[in-house]
Formats: sequence, C-alpha cells, structure tokens
Amino acid sequence: MHSLPYSRDIRWISSVENNNIKELEEFEAKMANYYSTNTDYYSAIDFTHSAWEADVPYLRIRELLRGAHHALEVGCGAANILRYENEVEENYTGCDFSTALLENNTSKYPKAKFVPLTTPNKLPFPDGAFDFVFSVYVLEHVVFPELFLKECLRVLAPGGILALRFPNFLEKDKMTSQVAGFSDGSGRDKLQQGRIWDALVTGYDRKFRIPAMAYICRNAIGQGYKFYINVNPVCFHKVFQPDYDAVYLTYRPEIEACLANQIIFEPIDAKLDGRDIYMQGRKTV
Ligand SMILES: C[S@@+](CC[C@H](N)C(=O)[O-])C[C@H]1O[C@@H](n2cnc3c(N)ncnc32)[C@H](O)[C@@H]1O
Repeated sequence: MHSLPYSRDIRWISSVENNNIKELEEFEAKMANYYSTNTDYYSAIDFTHSAWEADVPYLRIRELLRGAHHALEVGCGAANILRYENEVEENYTGCDFSTALLENNTSKYPKAKFVPLTTPNKLPFPDGAFDFVFSVYVLEHVVFPELFLKECLRVLAPGGILALRFPNFLEKDKMTSQVAGFSDGSGRDKLQQGRIWDALVTGYDRKFRIPAMAYICRNAIGQGYKFYINVNPVCFHKVFQPDYDAVYLTYRPEIEACLANQIIFEPIDAKLDGRDIYMQGRKTV
C-alpha cells in the first residue's frame, strides 16, 4: 500500500464549460505525454487482447472491419484486432500517441498503416476518409470527449459506421480513477490489514460520496451534455491498475445527445452491450 500524493477531493469538472478549458488543456497535455512516454503501459494492459477472440462486441467490430474498405481505429494501442483479422490488414489504419508502439505495430502488421497523433483530438486525416471508424476503451481516457467524438465523425464518410466500446461509469455510480480513502487499494484489503479507519472511509467514499457526486452530475447533464472529467486520476500514483488512467465519466445519454444530429445509433441488445457499453451508429448524409 502506498499513500496517495493528493487528497480525497472529488474534482470532476465539465469539459464543455469555458471556465475549465485552460486547466483541462494542461491536464490533456499531461495525459498525452503519459501515453506517449509510458513504455510499460501497453504491456500492463495487454491481457485484454484475448477479448478479440470471443467477446460479442469485439466480434461485431471484427465483422464490420471485414466489410470496410477504409477502417480507422482511434487509440489503437497494440492493434490487437489484427491478430485475428490479418487478412484485412491493408484496409486498416491505426492511430495513437506513442511512436515506439506504432513502430512495433508496423513490424507486426506491415500491410496496415499506423499514424502518430501529435495533437489530442486532431486526427491527421481528411474529412470523410473512412467508411468505418472504431475506438475500443479509449473514450474514457479522453479529456475533451466532445471534440474527440466530433473528430471521429469528421473523418467518417456519410453513411459510414462509428463503433465505440467503453466502461459504464456515471450510470453505475463508479469511477475507477477516483481516490477513495486515505491510501491506494480496496476497503477489503485495508480491513484485512487492520487499517480500520482507512477501510471505513474507503467504503464511505465508494458507497456514498462517489454515488452522490455521480447523481449531481447526471442531474446537471439532464437531456444535454457536460462530459465530466476527473482531473485527479490515480494513475499518477506509482501502482498501475487498469483504468486508473480513465478520466471521462462516461455516460451514454450525453453521447447520444451530443451526436443526435449526425449519427443514428442502432439499438443494441443486452448481450452485445454486456457489462460495458457498446454503441454503433451510422453517420447521416
Ligand atoms: C486503455 S488504452 C486502449 C488501447 C487499445 N484501444 C486497446 O483496446 O488495447 C487507451 C488508449 O487511448 C489512447 N488515447 C487517449 N487519449 C486519446 C485521444 N484523445 N485520442 C486518441 N487516442 C487516445 C491512449 O494512447 C491509449 O492507447
């Protein structure tokens, strides 16, 4: 267990309100640097690659990739989809921040294209360049989700398909990157170690403070969108756990509200949606 370098404050701020923009731009640069320089990050999350083998939403994305002429994966990481779909490698473009990662991808998948991102939320592609754009477990890491989503739509051709996979945070009253208690770790672990006060406060934070804040955010969003960001993610602490670097409190209704004029989302059955969210829609002409 390690003490955290900052307080238990919950600081979730809207990324569409003007008075937060400067702070969020600085935070965004810090996150982009984290992804481009943190060499251990991709090995730490590589356990997820087998999901492409059998998970229903991943199989749906694989099917869409097979049917696409020009597909773009935004935040491709290790481009694990190509382990299973290497026969359509030449129709695939992946983009992400780390050039070392993209060089590694190119040596594994030489017929695919890998393009580095230099500016977050500015995709280096012309309007309408792709007929399929997808992004898997990236949206929750984005500091300006509205700009990110609109960039994904800009590079998508009219009639093209957008597919997104991400955890369900705001609706489920949780945020993996939020500090709870006085130190890193779960309430149960702390209890077992006899750190009773820390365990109680961790439980209180998880069961009451975080859900109360989520409720306040959902109410503020209403029928519109605010795209709340946790500007104190625990990833800047030493011990990495998946989604300690998640910053956006994902919320499906606001994504739908934001893109309502440009995308017709398809109804998704529960099996396809699963524990996390899968959204798929067609860009209107
Ligand atoms: C949890 S990893 C997922 C990587 C990959 N999609 C996978 O499933 O293995 C999150 C990825 O999001 C990328 N990312 C974060 N912010 C981004 C942004 N604004 N635009 C594009 N990619 C971003 C990171 O560089 C990182 O590769």
